[in-house]
Amino acid sequence: MLTLILVCAFISLVFGHGDHQHSLYYPEVSEHEAKSFLHKRHAGHTALSSTASPDPAYCTQLLPGYETWCELHIPYCQEQQEYTREQRCATLTTPCAPGQFCMLTTPCPAHFAHACVDINECDSNPCQNGGTCHDGISKYTCTCLPGWTGTNCEIDIDECLSFPCMYGNDCIEDRINSYKCVCSERYEGVHCETDCRPGPVDVMFLVDTSWSQSEAMNRSIAYMTKFIKHVPIGSYDFQVSLVSFASKPELVFNFTAYRSNSSLLDAVSFIRNERGATKTSDALSFISQEILNPANGARLLSNISHYVVLLTDGLSTDRAQAIQRAQILKATYLGFKIFVVGVGEDIGHEELVQLSTDPSYTFAPDNDDLLFAMLKDATDYGCTDCNSSSVTDVVILFDTSKDSSPLVENSLHSLKVVEKLFDSFDTTNTNVSVAMMTYSNDTQIQFDFHQRSIPDTKAKLYTVSIEDKKGNTAFALSRLQDELFNRSSTGSRPNARKICYLFTNGNWAKTDILRIKQQIVNLHNDGISVNIMVPFEITDSGLHRTLENAKEAAFDPYRVYMIEDNGNSISMAVKSAARDTKYVECPPNIFDLKN
Ligand SMILES: *[C@@H]1O[C@H](CO)[C@@H](O)[C@H](O)[C@H]1NC(C)=O
Ligand SMILES: *[C@@H]1O[C@H](CO)[C@@H](O)[C@H](O)[C@H]1NC(C)=O
Ligand SMILES: *[C@@H]1O[C@H](CO)[C@@H](O)[C@H](O)[C@H]1NC(C)=O
Ligand SMILES: *[C@@H]1O[C@H](CO)[C@@H](O)[C@H](O)[C@H]1NC(C)=O
Ligand SMILES: *[C@@H]1O[C@H](CO)[C@@H](O)[C@H](O)[C@H]1NC(C)=O
Ligand SMILES: *[C@@H]1O[C@H](CO)[C@@H](O)[C@H](O)[C@H]1NC(C)=O
Ligand SMILES: *[C@@H]1O[C@H](CO)[C@@H](O)[C@H](O)[C@H]1NC(C)=O
Ligand SMILES: *[C@@H]1O[C@H](CO)[C@@H](O)[C@H](O)[C@H]1NC(C)=O
Repeated sequence: MLTLILVCAFISLVFGHGDHQHSLYYPEVSEHEAKSFLHKRHAGHTALSSTASPDPAYCTQLLPGYETWCELHIPYCQEQQEYTREQRCATLTTPCAPGQFCMLTTPCPAHFAHACVDINECDSNPCQNGGTCHDGISKYTCTCLPGWTGTNCEIDIDECLSFPCMYGNDCIEDRINSYKCVCSERYEGVHCETDCRPGPVDVMFLVDTSWSQSEAMNRSIAYMTKFIKHVPIGSYDFQVSLVSFASKPELVFNFTAYRSNSSLLDAVSFIRNERGATKTSDALSFISQEILNPANGARLLSNISHYVVLLTDGLSTDRAQAIQRAQILKATYLGFKIFVVGVGEDIGHEELVQLSTDPSYTFAPDNDDLLFAMLKDATDYGCTDCNSSSVTDVVILFDTSKDSSPLVENSLHSLKVVEKLFDSFDTTNTNVSVAMMTYSNDTQIQFDFHQRSIPDTKAKLYTVSIEDKKGNTAFALSRLQDELFNRSSTGSRPNARKICYLFTNGNWAKTDILRIKQQIVNLHNDGISVNIMVPFEITDSGLHRTLENAKEAAFDPYRVYMIEDNGNSISMAVKSAARDTKYVECPPNIFDLKN
């Protein structure tokens, strides 16, 4: 490098024989290199301080004595170089390239050497809007900040020109290097890439029309009617078909038979009870063949969800085979999910949770949980209109009166059920808060909604004992809001779902039942559902009466849980009962919004 940049005037005469013989010009060095070379070349010389008045000619003219003087006053002559530089350079035989300037690199006239130094085009700060300038030979380039382009970064890029917003949604360039997609109601995501209108969906209702449903047919019809009224019907939205079953399944109508909500509602209202046995396993086999059958109008596209909605009481004649069949369907997932709704006069909760694709796909008929869970399931991942939640305030209301307490001497069955129910809420991993109130003729809060340790809660639970008093269930229910749900000091949360689990043996007088039912209906109207939990032992006498009383008092037969003292039965029943604490919330008018 040094040999390249140290080019004495003498050497320059023979320059052209080396590696660079093809070069017309001196090789370029940076100004910095040239100057540092200048200093290195003369390192070791220290200028004598001169009192003589210097003459610039000493540094430029090759006259006797001048050179010596110069060598002794290098710092001085270095300054003077600047003065004569251009003149001297102009006389050199090999010039600097365009875009370079010539610089003398030695201070004294006897050894005049020069270097060609690039002109820094960046000195004029040509790059605008924060761009970085890179100096080149006789040119510069700008590296622009994001959002700018052009030689001097003077052009603001229109980010919308690449049509980044999907499905034709509007783009606005709101700031430099940024754009914003204005998604219509239906779409979400930075690029409106997520279609948040639920569906399309093929729903096959599988309706139990057996003997046991003879009094409940209108409930199933009412349930389907409500569902159909909530969803848009059409070949690009929801398609509904219906299969009824008792001793054998039958396709009542296919997915394309009814293309409007009104004709569909008509068709549904005509289904009749068949009064046969409940052969659920055959029905499950049947629908697994028919739901994805294009001959029934099923749409077999990957973006279309397929659901069976099974409406049954969970009292299959062939329970073991039905559960086994359901398990096989789950294990060999065939492209559809089974949602189960417990509709009937008596409900076999243990069976329901085993027929559904997952226990969380088992639903009460007296709320919209199934609809909302389905809407969420059928909507693109990432849409935020429908949210899953477990924010629930639960009250365990436990009867301790001598007549109707489920707690009986020598058996902790009822408290074990409470404990298992409590475990099913999984309060550590969910937002479920549990309070407990016991009652006979008066109420007593055992613990409120504030978080406490699980061992403490369970210990408290087992201190419950029978009181020698007459029970007043209606009164206890009437105290629920004032003492727990509506009182913030208990740790209740205004936006929480509210559920009461009433543990009793249902041994009530007829007049009491009416008052209890009235309280339960009032609570339902205030958004609180009451589940009547009846732990029993198979040896109990009066079991039939208990069940009849509980069903009469309950808001819906689904809300009665008869729980036998049998491990598997307890866990299935409490799983079903605890399910309501995990739910999905959607705006009720989601389809109006999402158009
Ligand atoms: C079903 O019909 C019975 C009478 O047969 C009636 O008491 C009940 O209210 C009806 N239920 C619904 C949901 O319409
Ligand atoms: C059927 O759908 C139309 C349009 O979506 C709606 O205006 C009408 O109220 C619906 N009818 C019924 C009976 O739900
Ligand atoms: C569906 O049912 C209708 C009316 O029963 C019938 O005309 C049609 O052929 C069936 N199949 C399909 C694929 O639509
Ligand atoms: C579903 O997918 C099909 C084919 O991939 C496409 O034509 C249709 O537009 C999609 N439908 C929706 C609602 O995204
Ligand atoms: C509980 O609620 C909080 C705040 O609303 C939320 O961040 C958290 O994810 C919830 N936890 C569960 C398990 O749902
Ligand atoms: C419950 O009974 C006791 C007597 O056993 C009585 O003192 C108390 O006032 C009763 N409480 C209510 C709320 O009726
Ligand atoms: C409890 O609060 C709910 C709504 O926050 C209200 O509708 C209800 O009337 C209240 N009940 C009582 C007994 O204060
Ligand atoms: C669901 O959550 C999103 C974002 O957290 C919120 O904007 C939306 O209002 C919620 N929807 C409902 C129905 O609570």
